[in-house]
Amino acid sequence: MELLSIDPLHPDAAAIAHAAELLRAGRLVAFPTETVYGLGANALDARAVERIYAAKGRPAYNPLIVHVASAELVSSVATEWPERAARLADAFWPGPLTMVLPKRSVVPDGVTAGLPSVAVRVPSHPVAHALLAAAQIPVAAPSANRSMMLSPTTGSHVARSLGDAVDLILDAGPTTVGIESTVVDLTSAEPVLLRPGTISLVQLEAVLGPVRRVSASSSDAARPSPGMLDRHYSPRAALFIASTAEVARQCANVQARGQRAGALVIDAPAPTAAITIRLARDAGEYASGLYAALHDLDDAGCDAIIVEQVPDGPAWLGVRDRLARAARSGGESGGGHR
Ligand code: TXA
Ligand code: MG
Repeated sequence: MELLSIDPLHPDAAAIAHAAELLRAGRLVAFPTETVYGLGANALDARAVERIYAAKGRPAYNPLIVHVASAELVSSVATEWPERAARLADAFWPGPLTMVLPKRSVVPDGVTAGLPSVAVRVPSHPVAHALLAAAQIPVAAPSANRSMMLSPTTGSHVARSLGDAVDLILDAGPTTVGIESTVVDLTSAEPVLLRPGTISLVQLEAVLGPVRRVSASSSDAARPSPGMLDRHYSPRAALFIASTAEVARQCANVQARGQRAGALVIDAPAPTAAITIRLARDAGEYASGLYAALHDLDDAGCDAIIVEQVPDGPAWLGVRDRLARAARSGGESGGGHR
């Protein structure tokens, strides 16, 4: 595996050209987007796409997002560009929004897990944009982590998670948005929010009118998006969500079992002897720091991470979704839910 440091705002043209060449040759290149790092492969090359699944240990039923340099290029992978897609693109692209559209037959089944639709996104990160422009191919890229684990928001997160399974990592330092893109399905009459992100339901509805939400608790088979497993985006440590007042007691429970506690807080005081990371009471800033904080608490050897519950507002939907998926179901830290 090769790791190249690259300036996030003014990426070196030679490094980009090298990465683009690897992609065109069917190799795997991890690159930063504004959300998380992606593990990229030529989306039109079935064998290259297969290597993504192998590198991640990703189940074959979980489809990938295809990245293109501009909205005009969506037509290379999708058969339709409805008016509401154009409106969304005007409002949010380049940026952390993914649209699900009817797929073109040139897109291998491996990309879409056999679905008749394809997920497409135009990322805003200058490195991602330069790479897509240089490669001149659509690039399939899931988050660049082993399946089910935390998404990477730095190049070293990628290196530690995937190691030699990836041919090249373009390391541009931390990403800014921090959680995965908002995913909207536009293949039926009523748009469906498949995965909340930092672009909120309110922002989407301002452009689209009513948007249906898929409940995070509906069974996997019943979902239009087969990869949306309940348990996902998880640190190694067990993660529990606690009210502000309960954070200290739950950390003490963990310690009483002789285990190491980590705490991720907003307002709660730092619990005694727990490794504590504090994030801002601002949904955007919190999302930006969330995965790095969980990676750090994992790296510090925490057995359990107690997360202070986040606010209720619409801006926090994406963060709440990721925390709920990372959390141990229903339990509290003393309950033996590991
Ligand atoms: O921010 C992001 O979206 C990052 C960066 C790298 O762009 N990518 C990402 O990819 O999070 P991934 O593979 O970890 O998540 C993509 C999700 C899948 O879990 C799947 O549920 C949904 O997008 N998806 C992909 N294609 C779909 C389709 N045709 N229909 C419904 N859902 C789809
Ligand atoms: Mg992922």
